[in-house]
Amino acid sequence: MNLPAAASEHSRVSMRDRMAMYNDNVLKIGLFGSNCSSGRAVTRVPERWSGNWEDNLALARMADDAGIDFILPVGRWKGYGGDTDYMGTTLETITWATGLLAHTKRLIAFGTVHAPLFHPLIAAKQFVTADQVSGGRFGLNVVVGWNEDEFQMFGVTQREHEQRYDYAQEWLDAVKLAWGPKDDFDYDGRFLKLKNVRAKPKPYGGSRPLIMNAGASPAGRAFAIRNCDAFFTQASLTSIEETAGRVKAAKDDAAAQGRELDVYAVGVVTCRPTQKEAEEYYNYATIENADWSAVDGILGKKNISPATVGEEEFQKQRHHYAHGLGGLLMVGDPDRIAGQLADLSRAGLRGIGFSFVNYLKELPYFCDEVLPRLERLGIRQKRA
Ligand SMILES: Cc1cc2nc3c(=O)[nH]c(=O)nc-3n(C[C@H](O)[C@H](O)[C@H](O)COP(=O)(O)O)c2cc1C
Repeated sequence: MNLPAAASEHSRVSMRDRMAMYNDNVLKIGLFGSNCSSGRAVTRVPERWSGNWEDNLALARMADDAGIDFILPVGRWKGYGGDTDYMGTTLETITWATGLLAHTKRLIAFGTVHAPLFHPLIAAKQFVTADQVSGGRFGLNVVVGWNEDEFQMFGVTQREHEQRYDYAQEWLDAVKLAWGPKDDFDYDGRFLKLKNVRAKPKPYGGSRPLIMNAGASPAGRAFAIRNCDAFFTQASLTSIEETAGRVKAAKDDAAAQGRELDVYAVGVVTCRPTQKEAEEYYNYATIENADWSAVDGILGKKNISPATVGEEEFQKQRHHYAHGLGGLLMVGDPDRIAGQLADLSRAGLRGIGFSFVNYLKELPYFCDEVLPRLERLGIRQKRA
């Protein structure tokens, strides 16, 4: 494998190659959220992530050289306010991915795309373009929408929850038709009516981009099982058995529909030479210097307040959201972080997408110290 950068125009790329991200790493490692200001750390510390293009480009090149497998953006149109306007400055994800793919050789870059906001035929062509630019390294994260005020910005009314996934199904069916073998087709759905469509060219190498989704509701999970190659779900470090059960259930449900599905999680990493240093930095950045007014903005959009959930739960949720919209919290020295990743791999997870407070400053230490430990444990290939 390892073919996309050097692949010729006529190379075939199988879905299995795409799902393996063109390498033999048992546990895939990616970066999550770097296209947004502050990434996933709702913090006021001065070293918080800029999210600007120069830093994203430097990060993607560094990650590509270090053998990181993927980079996954957040699709966000409006920030959460607070002292820092958390996630207030964001790069659009399809163009961001295309730019990064043009400057890298190996990693997969996802676009995170709101199905209700993008016309499926325009979107399908954008995905094909990104896929061609990169020799088959574009991936699609389909999202149906989270925040009401983002939709108001576009003059689009959010559908009722279940219907969002009904619409997304038609949207994705139309995208897949545009990617498929037929150049000409009609699509007559409940929501979408597309006549005399012509869709050329097709994705790179005779297959199609990886598709992922992170739906948490029964409708969202069912959408992932029916359509996706990768499903991002919640994982637990305190109960690896519970994580293993979740992974197995999702894979079994997909297999029952004749489909192969890989299961992923997201996490927030603070890795330092000693456990004490890691905990001190975590407390400094995420507790003492949290942008609490932005955290309250996130909670407000989710209708989580002392009045709706009670004071105790509200305080719990405040701490949970201080490190950016959830995910596994991993704070420790390299041995601890590598051990936790090995546990997650044993639970059957195919990969994990991380964020750091400052991705560019923290990634080198992670790559120098944690990746070799994972190589010795046999869950990552030796880097060249
Ligand atoms: C890894 C991950 C990435 C996500 N990215 C986005 C995003 O960028 N934009 C967005 O609106 N929602 C995003 N979501 C939200 C999910 O797509 C989904 O809407 C959410 O988990 C709630 O599930 P539900 O839609 O089934 O209710 C993400 C969730 C996760 C866990």
